[in-house]
Amino acid sequence: MKQQASYNRIDNDFLNDVIEGLSQNPKTLKPKYFYDNRGAQLFTEICTTPEYYPTRTEIKILNQNAEDIASQIGDNTALIEYGSGALEKIKILLNFLNEPVGLIPVDISEDQLFASAKNLENLYPDLEILPVAADFTKPIPIPGFSHPPKKHVAFFPGSTIGNFEPDLAIQFLEGVTKTIGVDGLLLIGFDLKKDIETLLAAYDDQRGITSSFNKNLLSRINDELGGNFNLDTFEHEARYNENKGRIEMHLKSTTEQTVSINKELFEFLEGETIHTENCYKFTKESFTAMSSKAGLYPVKTWTDDQNLFAVMLLRTTSNL
Ligand code: TRP
Repeated sequence: MKQQASYNRIDNDFLNDVIEGLSQNPKTLKPKYFYDNRGAQLFTEICTTPEYYPTRTEIKILNQNAEDIASQIGDNTALIEYGSGALEKIKILLNFLNEPVGLIPVDISEDQLFASAKNLENLYPDLEILPVAADFTKPIPIPGFSHPPKKHVAFFPGSTIGNFEPDLAIQFLEGVTKTIGVDGLLLIGFDLKKDIETLLAAYDDQRGITSSFNKNLLSRINDELGGNFNLDTFEHEARYNENKGRIEMHLKSTTEQTVSINKELFEFLEGETIHTENCYKFTKESFTAMSSKAGLYPVKTWTDDQNLFAVMLLRTTSNL
């Protein structure tokens, strides 16, 4: 089966990526490995914490403007959602869209993908749903629908675009431009710059769910790659990098120690960190400048009344 093959490939890459990342100075790990089954569950839980405003704010923006968004998008469209997770947000659009042809949910977390796709199928029996289990940072084959759509609409919520380095964000958006083609649309959610306290709290909740999510990477390395990380000697740390306009997530070693993974040894100094993720924050202007480099131009932007988060509809030029 196609999905199975791509899943196995991800597992093999895991070891190489971990060894490469931990051999660097400063040490890094790729954020896509957060999302095994447990990681996907923990992430869904982060979205419900009082500190993590992006999810509920984006949902509010989508709910309040669903009719307007749907009319801007038009009828008989094919939807492609990148990083579809629990497939909650797309429902808001589906309830207002005029005769959508189908949906391609793309996610790296296979179990969650197929379970949520099945649930959605029961709710929208007329919608053709073609889930693709894949790492969307690489080009993915887009299956065709039985009924040809008028246009392709990519949906990329959750400010996941902020988890890419700026040059890779542009590269990803260029891929989207190609995939959606002439007259294609992209509906994307991104987080806005704001006071540092609000930002830091969002990535370091009181109940420690973000901490468990971050540390789950180390558990995965222990379980799947034969690592011997002692989770009690690593601390979750969120930092705001003012210069780069991003939140950084780190795992900090509280002691000097050596960790072994599949016979490779990695030395940690006391206080040394593994940099696990970046979450870039934007202004409407900075986002527009970035996306125009990838051939995407704003149609309309919706925000909440506190200007915490933005949802933007962009189009490709029609003379590509
Ligand atoms: N992309 C979202 C963000 O940057 C969600 C996210 C990714 C996230 N990794 C995370 C949220 C880790 C909290 C912790 O906000």
